Amino acid sequence: MSFDLVLIGGTGDLAWRKLMPALFQAWRHGTLPAGGRILAVSREPMDGAAYRVWLQQRFQDLAGPTRPSTGDFERFAAQVHYLQVDLAQAGHYPRLQRWLKQPEADEGRAAAADTVVFYLATSPHLFPQICAHLGAAGLNGPEVRVVLEKPLGHDLESARAINAAVGAVFSERQALRIDHYLGKSAVQNLTALRFGNALFEPLWRRESIASIEITLAESLGVGTRGDFYDRTGALRDMIQNHALQLLTMIAMEPPSTAHADAIRDEKLKVLQALKPFDAQSARRDVVRGQYRAGVCEGRAVPGYLQEPSVPAHSACETFVALRTEVRNWRWAGVPFYLRTGKRLAAGAAYIVVNFRAVPHPIFTGPHPANRLVIKLQPEDGLELHLLAAQGHSGTEALAPVSLDLDFDKAFFESRVGAYERLLLEALHGRLNLFVRSDEQEQAWRWVEPVLQAWREDDAAGLGPRPYAAGSWGPAAASALVARDGCNWAEEL
Ligand code: BG6
Repeated sequence: MSFDLVLIGGTGDLAWRKLMPALFQAWRHGTLPAGGRILAVSREPMDGAAYRVWLQQRFQDLAGPTRPSTGDFERFAAQVHYLQVDLAQAGHYPRLQRWLKQPEADEGRAAAADTVVFYLATSPHLFPQICAHLGAAGLNGPEVRVVLEKPLGHDLESARAINAAVGAVFSERQALRIDHYLGKSAVQNLTALRFGNALFEPLWRRESIASIEITLAESLGVGTRGDFYDRTGALRDMIQNHALQLLTMIAMEPPSTAHADAIRDEKLKVLQALKPFDAQSARRDVVRGQYRAGVCEGRAVPGYLQEPSVPAHSACETFVALRTEVRNWRWAGVPFYLRTGKRLAAGAAYIVVNFRAVPHPIFTGPHPANRLVIKLQPEDGLELHLLAAQGHSGTEALAPVSLDLDFDKAFFESRVGAYERLLLEALHGRLNLFVRSDEQEQAWRWVEPVLQAWREDDAAGLGPRPYAAGSWGPAAASALVARDGCNWAEEL
């Protein structure tokens, strides 16, 4: 397979922090198809050689295994090219077209590539314009796909407008919406756990499961992204996409095949079955918070309002906790708790499936219910918490034990990063891990009443609840789950 992968926004943060390192890893793992060219495109005036030097310098800032040796970098970078194009200018696109259609002799390839992927690593407000220009320049053949980075819109209307503009040029099968959480190994393992094993399916329902928690906690603050973050907030940044995508993977019905649309149809049904918010429940079942100064991982850190580029009176939320339900036969009445935040007590992402307690305890002492923990990061693994007999007599108190599966250790050699996986899927045209436009729009539809309620509250001077950096968020988040007799899982 020959491919041309065009990184539009080739000098941007995403390109050098995530995409190029992911491509390097794929090259190192031998999974990047041979016969490919990677073309970075941006307005910066430089040539291929200067770009490769620039990229090598950026790679020095990367940590650990993602940093290549000089020899490896040079071998990898032999397929990295650069083209100076201002993508706002229609007149610049024929240059791109010429580059794609006429491979140079030294590329070892006589014809244009079988597959062309445009990765739009730019600000999403440019997507409509870039797609229109690509179309007008004749760059929308059947071998072409576009990859769209989040955030895709800031509400339903803007997401629809972007989807319509992209859809005017590229079909749904050509438009690949990235949610990098879907590329994480834990999500692959969750799918394997549910649909590759018969063990859990009979238990995966309201009769056996009491509640489900999804926590995406970060200890980092907003750092240098204050300007972007303040226009976005945690609900749009993490819940509308990453948390809801994880929820669909947990709650979906088994698809009839592994075909992308069979899977995405089932995910869409989950989103459609989510209990809708109204003005009242948006206030009752959603807690928003904003961090104040505190101590995070042993270090004194400033509050959100003191971060660079954040307005002094911002009402932007850096924390969200919410309770919802999936209204269908499998899940009726089971609470799903979603929580995310910056500057929390730990940087950890996990899903906790809380099983129901035994119906009739015969042992003495407490009987904590069984719990399955799907860990996304920092480690990647599964833990099944069971109770076992501690002493010689069966009537003594039981002790919790945990069956642990550490995927990082088990599959160390073959670990694949999220962007690495998603880039390879995009090159191969496999759509399973990309979000379809109807899923994405439905997720916006669901969060909109919350955004509306917050706008009204802001106008009434009722902003987000403060929480100390380094804590687990506002006390109201604990009260939200305590209403159902639950706790957030914090000691894993
Ligand atoms: C991004 C958000 O989509 O995901 C960031 O914009 C967030 O704010 C990041 O930090 C978290 O991703 P990960 O893979 O580090 O958990």
